[in-house]
Amino acid sequence: MSSLVEKAKERAASEALNYLYDAEIIGVGTGSTVEKLIAKIGLEKDAFSTKMFVASSYDTLIKLQSLGLKVVPTEFLAKKPDVYVDGADEVTRNLMLIKGRGGALLREKILAYFSKRKIYIVDYTKLVNVLGEKKPLPIEVIPYAVGWVINELVKRKLNPKIRMCRNGKDGPVITDSGNIVIDLYIKIRDPESLEKELKSIPGIVETGLFINLADAVIVGYPDKVDVITP
Ligand code: A5P
Repeated sequence: MSSLVEKAKERAASEALNYLYDAEIIGVGTGSTVEKLIAKIGLEKDAFSTKMFVASSYDTLIKLQSLGLKVVPTEFLAKKPDVYVDGADEVTRNLMLIKGRGGALLREKILAYFSKRKIYIVDYTKLVNVLGEKKPLPIEVIPYAVGWVINELVKRKLNPKIRMCRNGKDGPVITDSGNIVIDLYIKIRDPESLEKELKSIPGIVETGLFINLADAVIVGYPDKVDVITP
């Protein structure tokens, strides 16, 4: 990754801190940009030691816990997180997002939906005109149905590929919730109708399309940040 992109991620992560100081419960997403945010939270122990965190993945849980932060389980948590901060894979100017490169899309979408404010931190390379321009759309599928779901997606010309592990394990990626990830290599002209179509297929647990789930996207550049709001 170029140092310019690294700098841009750092700037977006720093800006996101401002959205967290007033929160009591903070939801934390997954990925390399969020990793930078977690590191910054760790440097401000006084401001964050009394706050409660909820994690969107084991990866984030481990990172938060290793800093001694208070991570609470979400099971039976009735209070909504005050704010949720996460990265994204692609973002349009009208705040439609693709997420799920890290395989955490199901828990990320749950946290985004149930949090009072949803903030995303991305570097400038994530901005696109059309979703699917640079990255595939991940969907999370229950293993029981995966063969039939693949056939259905092929029939609908959605160009599916089961995501395979690159290292650490042979075979398909299994998510933190025990599901398979299928990546759809398509350009998405109508995200709302695609979302409806995919959710109508039994076995598809969740999609990486985030529509109406963003209150702000902080876009980092090497020398500045832009904040896109609805
Ligand atoms: C995790 O499943 C994804 O949704 C991430 O939020 C996304 O991939 C952003 O990751 P980076 O910050 O590493 O690009």
